Amino acid sequence: MKTLIINGSPRKNGDTITLLSEFKKHLQGEIIQIDTFFTDIKPCNDCRYCWENQACVIKDGMQDVYRLIDETDNIIIASPIYFAELTGSLLNFMSRLQFFYTTKYKRNEVFLSNKKRNGVVFLVGGGNGTGDQALKTAKLLLRVMGADYLDCVLSHNTDNVPAKDDTDALNKVKEIAIKLEE
Ligand SMILES: Cc1cc2nc3c(=O)[nH]c(=O)nc-3n(C[C@H](O)[C@H](O)[C@H](O)COP(=O)(O)O)c2cc1C
Repeated sequence: MKTLIINGSPRKNGDTITLLSEFKKHLQGEIIQIDTFFTDIKPCNDCRYCWENQACVIKDGMQDVYRLIDETDNIIIASPIYFAELTGSLLNFMSRLQFFYTTKYKRNEVFLSNKKRNGVVFLVGGGNGTGDQALKTAKLLLRVMGADYLDCVLSHNTDNVPAKDDTDALNKVKEIAIKLEE
């Protein structure tokens, strides 16, 4: 089993990482984590090369990520909520999924194989919001990556209760890790 984690937090020991550490403790198989704040993968510049060609013209690390997304069994989008959304670095990184979008909907071609991919979302927020907007965006991104949305864990109110003390969220993260192995 192969799991790709896409982490949008810039904090190396923050709340998102707390959830991810618990998740990884209980998950079997190969795990690859991309920390979008620290990658040098460029955002999409809407050059529109992929409107006509089955390739992204920007030849950076994203070429390997496209293949990785195709091969993986599970995709985890993990992010703090920033102004009700996923973080900017995560959205910048994900803008390169435009290549998948144009392949499917503009050129009516196939890049991603038909294999089943599970999609999971981890969100953390300092306030008491529901995370609805960020979750909606994360679900859209999972769909573009050919993943079926399975579940979401939200640890909110981290300004007062850090994720490390949010036992409900930590338990749910563990449950999901175990469920993915079934
Ligand atoms: C620029 C910025 C915007 C934020 N906007 C929100 C928000 O809209 N809603 C919320 O609940 N928390 C918001 N927060 C708080 C973070 O989501 C919260 O501190 C989170 O636990 C940080 O996660 P991390 O430690 O994994 O980076 C914001 C924080 C920053 C820095």
